[in-house]
Amino acid sequence: MYEQLEEVKKSCLNCQKCALGALRNNVVFSDGIPNSKLMLIGEAPGFNEDMQGKPFVGRAGQLLDKIFESVGFSREKDVYICNTIKCRPPENRDPLPDEKEACRAYLDKQIEILKPRIILLCGKVALTSFLPHLNVGITKVRGQWFEGPYGAKMMPIFHPSYLLRNPIARPGSPKALMWEDIKNIRKAYDAL
Ligand code: URA
Repeated sequence: MYEQLEEVKKSCLNCQKCALGALRNNVVFSDGIPNSKLMLIGEAPGFNEDMQGKPFVGRAGQLLDKIFESVGFSREKDVYICNTIKCRPPENRDPLPDEKEACRAYLDKQIEILKPRIILLCGKVALTSFLPHLNVGITKVRGQWFEGPYGAKMMPIFHPSYLLRNPIARPGSPKALMWEDIKNIRKAYDAL
C-alpha cells in the first residue's frame, strides 16, 4: 500500500497536467496517516499550504484540527487529509473544471489504494466532485450519509473557512450543525 501511494505521490509531485503546475511552490498531496479508516477531502491548497506542502495548515486547518480534537481524533493518529486539487489556484479562486479533471486521477488513486471506510467531503468543491447529480448546496446535504467509493460511507460537511466566516454558535447555526456532524462521524467510526 505505502509503495503504491509513494508512486502516485511521486508522479503528482512532477505533475504539469494543468496550468497550476507552473504557478505552485509545492504540490500538496496529503497529511495524516495513510492507514486511517477516515479520509477528509478538502478543496484546494491556499497560501500557507502551498508554502509548506501540507493541507490545512492555515487558519481553516487549525479550526479543522480543533473540530477533530473535540471528538478525540488527531491527524497524527486517526485521519488522512487531502484535497480535491493538489496545487493552489491563484488568489484562492475556485478550481476550474479542467483543473479538477486533470487532478482527479490522483485523488481516485488515493481512494483506491487506501480504501477509507468513511470519507468526509469538506465544502462544496469536494461535494460537487463526488455527488454532482445532487445539484444542491452543502447546507442542504451536510450531515447526511451517502454511499461512497469501495463501500465507504461518505458525508458532506461544512468547510472550516465557512465556519470562520460564521463563528456564532447558536442552535441551528453552521457551527452548531458541525458539532452535531462530527459527533455522528465519531459514532459511525466507532461502530466500524
Ligand atoms: N482549504 C482547503 O480546502 N484545503 C486546504 O488544504 C486548505 C484550505
